Amino acid sequence: MPPEDRAQASLPGTRPAGALDDAAAARQVREMFSRIAPRYDLLNHLLSLRFDTAWRRRVARRFADLLAQPGIRVLDLCCGTGDLTFALASQARFRVPQNSGGAGETSRQGKQFLGADFAHPMLIRAREKAAANGRQGTVEFLEADALHLPFASESFDLITTAFGFRNLANYAAGITELRRVLRPGGSLAILEFAEPQGALFGRLFRFYFRRVLPKIGGLISRNSQAYGYLPNSVARFPHPAELAQLLRDAGFAEVAFERWTGGIVVLHVARR
Ligand SMILES: C[S@@+](CC[C@H](N)C(=O)[O-])C[C@H]1O[C@@H](n2cnc3c(N)ncnc32)[C@H](O)[C@@H]1O
Repeated sequence: MPPEDRAQASLPGTRPAGALDDAAAARQVREMFSRIAPRYDLLNHLLSLRFDTAWRRRVARRFADLLAQPGIRVLDLCCGTGDLTFALASQARFRVPQNSGGAGETSRQGKQFLGADFAHPMLIRAREKAAANGRQGTVEFLEADALHLPFASESFDLITTAFGFRNLANYAAGITELRRVLRPGGSLAILEFAEPQGALFGRLFRFYFRRVLPKIGGLISRNSQAYGYLPNSVARFPHPAELAQLLRDAGFAEVAFERWTGGIVVLHVARR
């Protein structure tokens, strides 16, 4: 069996309560993130005690050498309101000078930073933030489904996704699509939540994640479904070693993962 088919065969993706198939799961996920988009940033920073910002910056630093290269093409998938897309562009020191008259080829050094998400309200927020921070022309955002990307094969040198991959309706299909649009030798980074392993910290974290976070998130976003879904989807998500194996089965090389912040988040890296 070719590697892609082997990966496809093994694992479904997320299943919000009541979703019986991939299409229903994707629809629920898109509607849920569309509804919470206006409060998404606030809740992210609040519920993670701003660790989320440090995690995204750390991902960007991890790829500093790659991001420094002229002509690099970067896709931040499931970009939400764009914070990782912005962190990657900042790491690359990719800013259009005031007098350049826009995103000229000289100032860009041919670099391209693209954020993609299928929840339109998230992209509206991302574009508003780009405008407010003078980043128009440095990053672009477009609506796209991670399972059916509107890009030619081998389009990107680096693909990142932060806290988005877990929400895909089919993990194996997602990995196959990521691999398709990554150029040979290109890098993949998947940042995801995990349940920490340490006995005491693990217990404390689970109490916070399963009991406290859904209440605060539900109250502020007025959407209890979304913040109840978060701990459930993390509990169902493949363990780091399983996701690493899925990546290998799909044909990725140099697959590795690192646990950060006591194992609350895990960064997976791989090369096509
Ligand atoms: C938890 S948010 C993460 C956003 C952002 N990456 C961050 O670091 O804050 C997950 C995002 O994944 C997006 N998403 C989930 N499934 C998707 C899919 N199949 N295609 C595109 N975006 C998807 C959601 O719309 C949502 O904006």
